[in-house]
Amino acid sequence: MTKTCIITGASRGIGRAIAISLSERADITNFVLISRTEAGLKETIKLMKPGKKVESYAIDLTDYDVARDVVQSIGTRFGTIDMLINVAGYANPKSLLETSVEDWEKTYQINVHSIFNMTKETVKFMKRTGGQILNVASTAGSTARPGWLAYASSKAAIINMSQTLSEELSEYGILVYCISPGRCATELRKVLAPDEDPTTIMQPEHVGEVVNRLLSDDGVCLDGQNIVVRKQVTKTPVPQPTEQIN
Ligand SMILES: NC(=O)c1ccc[n+]([C@@H]2O[C@H](COP(=O)([O-])OP(=O)(O)OC[C@H]3O[C@@H](n4cnc5c(N)ncnc54)[C@H](OP(=O)(O)O)[C@@H]3O)[C@@H](O)[C@H]2O)c1
Repeated sequence: MTKTCIITGASRGIGRAIAISLSERADITNFVLISRTEAGLKETIKLMKPGKKVESYAIDLTDYDVARDVVQSIGTRFGTIDMLINVAGYANPKSLLETSVEDWEKTYQINVHSIFNMTKETVKFMKRTGGQILNVASTAGSTARPGWLAYASSKAAIINMSQTLSEELSEYGILVYCISPGRCATELRKVLAPDEDPTTIMQPEHVGEVVNRLLSDDGVCLDGQNIVVRKQVTKTPVPQPTEQIN
């Protein structure tokens, strides 16, 4: 088996954790890591298990033509693309009246349009052989988040896009997965909740492990659904009586 896997948002956080976890697998031999920051991508490669072919592209995914050229080059040189993991995301939490049209568009360009662009270009190759696509949405995409309008609604779009594509692409043997992480200790989370103690919430490695399992045989029958990945808050146990009163 020689699988080729593209991961966006791989320079840090959840994307990096997914790359590290998947590098432990024997079946994935070629990795393509994408984000804007070259130094972050290099650091991710250092942390991955050695022995894999890893290419990295420091590009802005909202340069749609450039992103399409990268996918075409990968598909042509590797013969196919077996996995596409769309992780890159952006958040600038604001209410309706605080949100500029420019920031609304930026949020949708990164969180929604770039996934559409990457997926469309990848499927041109993947449809020959089948494959797996995984999109990272958010729990913010399925419940109201006042003050996070652009981010939350863009994540809702990812959930529906994933479910629709799961049905649309099934004829090619392409499975589409969607995960919605809850609070996870990354730079993006610091923007959403600056006062939170990151040690008390889910870590990127937890999400990396879940993605690894979903994209293995354990993930059979979990495509096409919005899978919430969340660390439960540990509650103080309710004191129990030591004696029964008759
Ligand atoms: N952390 C959470 O609590 C949480 C919860 C639910 C969902 N999520 C989602 O998880 C995903 C990963 O976020 P994270 O929490 O790991 O945050 P993060 O550490 O800030 O990572 C964001 C990643 O997206 C990349 N990126 C952003 N804009 C880009 C662009 N225009 N072109 C290319 N790459 C771009 C960043 O790389 P560069 O800056 O190098 O380009 C970085 O690798 C996001 O979709 C986020 O919405 C996070």
